[in-house]
Amino acid sequence: MSLIVFGSINIDLVAQTTRLPHTGETVLGTSFFTVSGGKGANQAVAAAKLGIPTYLIGRVGDDDFGQTLLNSLTEANVNIDFVTVTPNTGSGVAIIAVDENADNTIIVVSGANGCVDETDIDRLKSLLPKATALLLQLEMPIDVNIAAAKAAKEAGVRVILDPAPAPDSLPDELYHLVDFITPNETEASRLVGFPVNDQETCLKAAKILLDRGASTAVLKLGAKGVFCATRTEHFMVPAFKITPVDTVAAGDAFNGAMAAAFHEGLSLQESLIWGAAAGALAVSKQGAQPSLPSRATFEAFLQTNSAKIDLDTDAP
Ligand code: RIB
Repeated sequence: MSLIVFGSINIDLVAQTTRLPHTGETVLGTSFFTVSGGKGANQAVAAAKLGIPTYLIGRVGDDDFGQTLLNSLTEANVNIDFVTVTPNTGSGVAIIAVDENADNTIIVVSGANGCVDETDIDRLKSLLPKATALLLQLEMPIDVNIAAAKAAKEAGVRVILDPAPAPDSLPDELYHLVDFITPNETEASRLVGFPVNDQETCLKAAKILLDRGASTAVLKLGAKGVFCATRTEHFMVPAFKITPVDTVAAGDAFNGAMAAAFHEGLSLQESLIWGAAAGALAVSKQGAQPSLPSRATFEAFLQTNSAKIDLDTDAP
């Protein structure tokens, strides 16, 4: 059995700067580096580095970046049998700025990610009979994401949707196909149309997401923790305390680790703690894929820090 990630693969061009520029402003950067990223690829790497058999389905271009991206996936033990190279197309690129508070802005140019089509859905269908979950994000065309979610639903495979980057609205059809929807604060606010920033607004937002058809809403609130609501319960999982260095891929680390925990048969609450731990570790290191923890690092961190985690089931 394995996890399947159907998603984007990008090369990240990262500039670090003291503060992010305002519109029309130039600021000087302090350093520049290039790493492998993409929300889909990051989630696959996060799960694979925790030792879970993981397939990625997606596309790279026939440029040098494409080869670099494939190499990183292979090194992380992600199965790339169904990652294809699209001819005459550039790989997905993310232009990222990170400031000294570890905050970031990201512009993604889809490239080959935008070329996924029904042939990729056929590849997905061939894997679904042996899948424990399908992880989706929104850096691929929405109609292909809907087709992927539909195929998983028909095969009885759990669907985890990271609605990132957040659109102004998501088709109702997609909500109904989703078991877990996992927005961060910005994404949740955008989806529901009001600021989501405390337990009260989280509950209100989660109820809207559940009413639209998702079975469970998991709101990733960064240093404030994770708010989770199902149709029968809701609770907070506090964040692990770390010194933030770079928040890029923290959400991907969360989703990959949460899915890894589901794969291992852990409970919802334990799975959220896994997500929170992997997210915290990712925030404590620079870059996307290089910040994702190995199983050994992850277990050591959990062992040292889990006792400090108290679930708040009295959330409003
Ligand atoms: O979630 C982080 C990722 O978003 C980066 O790796 C970048 O490629 C964009 O997809």
